[in-house]
Amino acid sequence: MMTQTNVFAHRGVSSQFPENTMAAFGAAVNVGADGIEFDVQLSKDDVPVVIHDHTLDRTTTGSGLVRSHTVKELKELSAGEWFHPDFKNEQIPTLTEVFIWAKHHSLLLNIELKGDVRERELISSTVLSLIVQFGLVDRVILSSFDHTIIHLIQQKMPQVETAVIVMAALHEPAFYLKRIGAPGYHFCSPLLLKTEAQDLMRKGIRLRPYTVNDREWMREYMDWGCDGIFTDYPKEALIIREERER
Ligand code: G3P
Ligand code: MG
Repeated sequence: MMTQTNVFAHRGVSSQFPENTMAAFGAAVNVGADGIEFDVQLSKDDVPVVIHDHTLDRTTTGSGLVRSHTVKELKELSAGEWFHPDFKNEQIPTLTEVFIWAKHHSLLLNIELKGDVRERELISSTVLSLIVQFGLVDRVILSSFDHTIIHLIQQKMPQVETAVIVMAALHEPAFYLKRIGAPGYHFCSPLLLKTEAQDLMRKGIRLRPYTVNDREWMREYMDWGCDGIFTDYPKEALIIREERER
């Protein structure tokens, strides 16, 4: 049987809903996505919150650094109005809120850690304790562009699934991943050749390209047998997957 590629809604269904909000995550459930991807960083009072940029300006009614605002201050902002007035009541979710919600759904949760490299210890321990508290170890993937935090997490909690995110085409990624201890390689599409992908998968590496919005590439990565894809268009990806299975 062919490997089924998991479809992750990137920042939720971010093509139709404001990214990283409960509305975008709810939409992922509604379309039948296998998982959601979202970005996490710390508020001023060290609460993990779900937002992509380090500043508030692009996706909220606030401005300045996320890290300079308490969770109470962040909760007063709209995280949906920039996208469409219909979403003006969307707030920046806390990680706890997402976990409470996730307990009612069977989605995979790709948590991308966006924190400051000077705070690796704090963000990793805070996020790992919440994962344990909510009993979600079996369905989370922790990923980051900061590969040292991924190495740290592997040492702290080897049973949690991890992945490195890369923006460039690495030379011999299998060698590199082994040193870090992460089984997942989240590469920027299309910076990997099929032959390289096959070699990596033979070595047990789980490939999940981002951000795959092009239908041809969705098909291609499913053909390769990638473990997952991150897309802003999960509905379209699921239709393609269904057609292939027929
Ligand atoms: O986790 C994959 C992808 O989300 C990484 O890039 O900038 O969308 O967080 P970005
Ligand atoms: Mg991300």
